[in-house]
Amino acid sequence: MIQLPGLIDPHVHLREPGATHKEDFDSGTSAALAGGVTIVLAMPNTKPPIFDADTLDLALNAAKQKARCDYGQYVGAGPDNSDWTSHKAESDRAAGLKMYLDSTFGELRLDDMTLWSPHFANWPKDLPIVAHSESRSMAAAILFAAIHDRPVHIAHISLKEEVLLIRAAKERGIKVTCEVCPHHLFLSKDDIPAISHGHPGRGEVRPRLATKEDVDALWKNMDVIDCFATDHAPHTISEKDSDNPPPGFPGLETFLPLILTAVQDGRLTMDDVIAKMHTNTKRIFKLPEQPETWVEVDENAQYEIKASEQFTRCNWTPFEGWKVRGRVRKVVLRGKTAFEDGKILAELGYGKNIRFFN
Ligand code: DOR
Ligand code: ZN
Repeated sequence: MIQLPGLIDPHVHLREPGATHKEDFDSGTSAALAGGVTIVLAMPNTKPPIFDADTLDLALNAAKQKARCDYGQYVGAGPDNSDWTSHKAESDRAAGLKMYLDSTFGELRLDDMTLWSPHFANWPKDLPIVAHSESRSMAAAILFAAIHDRPVHIAHISLKEEVLLIRAAKERGIKVTCEVCPHHLFLSKDDIPAISHGHPGRGEVRPRLATKEDVDALWKNMDVIDCFATDHAPHTISEKDSDNPPPGFPGLETFLPLILTAVQDGRLTMDDVIAKMHTNTKRIFKLPEQPETWVEVDENAQYEIKASEQFTRCNWTPFEGWKVRGRVRKVVLRGKTAFEDGKILAELGYGKNIRFFN
């Protein structure tokens, strides 16, 4: 048995408000605990999106009543809400500011670069801006961070050109950090037929699965990658198999077993795991220490991933049938056993907002 600190996932979609048939704060934080994750940071591309005081209240009230692990809630950068987001009372209760600079699921895309400037100028410099920005828009986001001399965190990098550009930016002292998702480390576009089972929508995710060369470059440049994040993006299997499939993969429950399997295969070290799933994430997102919190993992347990055993409401996984090694046995969260041997023991509402921790 090995003991790990409570894992942190800075990128999840819990679908509340507006799409609780896919997930909600209850099912999503249950999936987190089952995966050894004790803090989730929830994205704002909900229905409605989290971009004003009323919608932030909606999400935070739902989380307060239903979250079983600790959480934070991002606010979304809209075309004209920078005065609101950067108001101290609001930024103080947000996990960070999420900027959608490329097309994705939901309505929060900022097409015009003139709309980016107020957010880079006004959002507090000590709090994270997280950018969904791919390829050239990522280069532009890094330039904005340099111009405004402020940090930016690039979500889910997937391409060789991206990891190389981030390396170069870091070498020049630009305050850029980045995350990578397990699906971009363990899957390439060549795997889409196997994931799809005849339903091409199951392979849809943003950023798209990349080439093998891209995947290799992420592994080769592992030292540039600050954290791992799931981009847990549950959509039901019938939605994925429809004519208009939404992009996204669930990931909370396959996160640690995939990463630990890579450790067993000699591709990562346990120090990488702790740095990229806890220490670096905590530093970048200014997260509090969770006292008396740890995860017990049977590192030798071998098993097959099965969607039918998951807590996420979406009922599928792109890793169905994968053989992994490393099973979460127990999660202790702030002195209480929150998960043990397949059972969620933390009550509804036990989770705390990481911005109001003490
Ligand atoms: O695949 C994705 N799904 N990428 C995103 O950026 C959004 C996410 C979602 O919300 O479903
Ligand atoms: Zn996302």
